Amino acid sequence: MPYENEILKRRTFAIISHPDAGKTTLTEKLLLFGGAIQVAGAVKSNKIKKTATSDFLDIEKQRGISVATSVMTFEYNNLLINLLDTPGHKDFAEDTYRTLTAVDSVILVIDCVKGVEPQTEALMEVCRMRNTPVMVFINKLDREGRNPFDLLDEIEQKLNIRARPLSWPAGMGFTFKGVYNLYNNGIYLFNPEKKVTEENRMPVESVNDPLLDSHFGTEAVKLREDIQLIEGVYDLFDKEKYLAGKLAPVFFGSALNNFGVKELLDSFTEISPPPGPRIAEQRIVAPAEKTFTGFVFKIHANIDPRHRDRIAFLRVCSGKFERGRFYYHNRLDREIRFNNPYTFLASAKSVVDEAYPGDVVGLYDTGIFKIGDTLTEGEHLQFKGISRFSPEIFKEVINTDPMKSKQFEKGISQLTDEGVAQLFTQPNGPLKVIGTVGELQFEVIQHRLLNEYGASCKYHPLNVYKACWITAKDKSKMDEFIRFKMHQVMLDKDGYYVYLADSSWMLEQMIKNNPDIEVHFNSDTISSSPVLN
Ligand code: G4P
Repeated sequence: MPYENEILKRRTFAIISHPDAGKTTLTEKLLLFGGAIQVAGAVKSNKIKKTATSDFLDIEKQRGISVATSVMTFEYNNLLINLLDTPGHKDFAEDTYRTLTAVDSVILVIDCVKGVEPQTEALMEVCRMRNTPVMVFINKLDREGRNPFDLLDEIEQKLNIRARPLSWPAGMGFTFKGVYNLYNNGIYLFNPEKKVTEENRMPVESVNDPLLDSHFGTEAVKLREDIQLIEGVYDLFDKEKYLAGKLAPVFFGSALNNFGVKELLDSFTEISPPPGPRIAEQRIVAPAEKTFTGFVFKIHANIDPRHRDRIAFLRVCSGKFERGRFYYHNRLDREIRFNNPYTFLASAKSVVDEAYPGDVVGLYDTGIFKIGDTLTEGEHLQFKGISRFSPEIFKEVINTDPMKSKQFEKGISQLTDEGVAQLFTQPNGPLKVIGTVGELQFEVIQHRLLNEYGASCKYHPLNVYKACWITAKDKSKMDEFIRFKMHQVMLDKDGYYVYLADSSWMLEQMIKNNPDIEVHFNSDTISSSPVLN
């Protein structure tokens, strides 16, 4: 197949949601439709739970939350679809933010009972930063949910994106009869008993078709009124606006009941974008360029509990990645060869010989990778937008077993390379601080430090409000600032200075009183600033 067609054939996306909205259920249903898993039936069946593709991390099993980000690949409608799974738990949000740097579009799941929830807002902010195209799936229509118009209003207001319904429900909860598809003029009938993965679209002339009355009964009247209102109030669906991340098409369904899933997948394959260009510090990289480029967006240790290996997930941005070839690791300034690159289907890995833009390959990592590392065929390139943000919770980490100092150091260093926790160290002292977006991360680190490295630790909570990266054009000003704020200045793992502010007021004062110090709220802007460490 010509190279360009390989690119056009690919769709790389993630499903995001607030926990419990139905992301896992929808993921499984999409995989069923895509033939990637064979077990049909509702997700409540223990069998599926056991084979659930995102369930392979020990800790995840213990806690019943999705911790790992894996990649699931399947074919559908002649397209090759890469679904990047994201952890649903808030404490792993940082991991999800990173994964969003590696996708070309997103499906956002919203619970029709709960509406837009806090984590959805945070995730959408990240999508908006990159203008990622978003499709919305309003789930659990078999339950008595909120008025669909109110849900759309909430999406527009809280998520700051225009919404455009492409399907509309007839009834909800007990009265839920099905949906009318405004995009392809068809009706889909809801049948809660139907466990098979098929959905029958019944083509109709228009919303006035008498078929609606015979299938939807009294709900048809309300449906017609609603659709009249939609056509009057909402602009026509504009694919360009969707691709620019300005307009979200909205679908309704019930993932648990296999309803609306095929409709969503069909629309997704029709409108979602193939791999797009990526912005590097030096230039914009187009996927059709012949030379290979790619970046690491996630590092995961212990993905296979039988081996203690670390895997770096690399998104191919341009050219063809080939097994066994030497590639240039920009940060290390070294050529490296990968003899066993992997593709994934949950915990099942298979060796891949070549990969194209939009694909994700897993590379064995012996500690050579950090999040954001770029591989090329020799070009000096650094992809942008893989930034770190300030953590929200900060704790001093203390080694509790002096006999295991080496293991402790190695474990803390490697675990914080994986991108879900950040490590800050004192420039001239022993203090080590870990920052995360959630309490659970501290437990995970403690657990993994013990299980994977045989070292133990305890934490001492710190009163830190935010971490900001600091730079200065004048080295003497920076030295003076560090002398003055000795206890609040730390180094991140890349050797950049970080200021740990106690409160927003303190931060404001610090900025006001130190005009020579530049403060950066994410790590993306530091590398382009004059850093004088
Ligand atoms: P998440 O990954 O976003 O956290 O959500 P998940 O799919 O695990 O779904 C959360 C709960 O919502 C699950 O129930 C799931 O069965 C249920 N659910 C998902 N889709 C629908 C739907 O369309 N209708 C209804 N009524 N429920 C739905 P649970 O009881 O928490 O878990 P389980 O015992 O079913 O595993």
